[in-house]
Amino acid sequence: MTEKKRILTGIRPTGSLHLGHYAGALENWVRLQHDYNCYFLIADYQVSDYADDISLVRQAVWDVALDWLAVGLDPEHSSYVIESLVPEHAELTTLLGWFLPVSMLERNPTLKAEMEAMENPEDGSQERKSVPVAFYTYPVMQVANILMPRAHLVPVGEDQLPHIELTRETARRFNRRFKDVFPEPEGLVGRVPRLVGIDGQAKMSKSKNNAIYLKDDAETVSKKVMSMFTPRMKPTDPGDPEITPAFMYHDAFNPDKAEVADLKERYRNGAVGDAEVKRKLAVALNIFLEPIRDRRSKYEANMPLVREALEAGSKRGRAIAVETMEMVRDALDLNYLRKY
Ligand code: TRP
Repeated sequence: MTEKKRILTGIRPTGSLHLGHYAGALENWVRLQHDYNCYFLIADYQVSDYADDISLVRQAVWDVALDWLAVGLDPEHSSYVIESLVPEHAELTTLLGWFLPVSMLERNPTLKAEMEAMENPEDGSQERKSVPVAFYTYPVMQVANILMPRAHLVPVGEDQLPHIELTRETARRFNRRFKDVFPEPEGLVGRVPRLVGIDGQAKMSKSKNNAIYLKDDAETVSKKVMSMFTPRMKPTDPGDPEITPAFMYHDAFNPDKAEVADLKERYRNGAVGDAEVKRKLAVALNIFLEPIRDRRSKYEANMPLVREALEAGSKRGRAIAVETMEMVRDALDLNYLRKY
């Protein structure tokens, strides 16, 4: 286990995971879990937008862990880490903050967009929120998360790449100025970097209410699929599969390539109804989700096992964190008491 290179990646506990998470990131985690020593982080320090609703966060910690178990991330080989059980994350965030110029954060496009959205919510019903201090520190904390187990690889969704760039820059600066402590981690984006929502919007997300969840039952999945946005007026119109959500999902999740090719061909010629395209998609998605649901319900019936995964994983996460912080304090020459 110690010979292997390390992965750190994570997710904020704000809800259940959906197909977008799967195709954008989780699939890579599952594929790589035995080639790397993996730390999967539940980033509960980074939920300032849910600070008024911690009961939701508490629930989501379990939901995320169950989703991970459900997709087949083996908690014996990998470590499921609850961020706040490794308070070294907060310490490293503070120390890195000494050296990171605010301008580096301001350049981050993901941050810019998030801050903009907070101050000017698109949806008029939403309250305009002031930006909390934690919002400025969260990218630094994400850098600390990645550096903490001295990770080599960070498989994530596309929107996280700017944070990884920031991490690489931080590692280079630290190593050059102090001691060579951190590998410069690589980002890795999944097969479908940005899965469209069932409403045809650019991205599947919980907040847009356009997601199919890994835990949705077969009937819910079918209903959502049948209600999917379609850009075409009638079945005899020639359609473009490239801009039709149902086909983007077929491409992402239907292993029967011949069926998909046939449907696309007929769709282009106005020779297939959307209902048939969607029915076949619902079948494919349910076949894909069935083993995930099975594993989920097995663990749901045995929650102490889930707890054990979180407890053991957090302990392993803590152990490597303590090791890294020793190296960091040594590099920064912070071991005051060694003097006498
Ligand atoms: N910011 C990520 C998200 O919103 C979650 C996250 C926190 C993360 N720390 C990380 C992802 C470190 C990768 C590496 O999904």
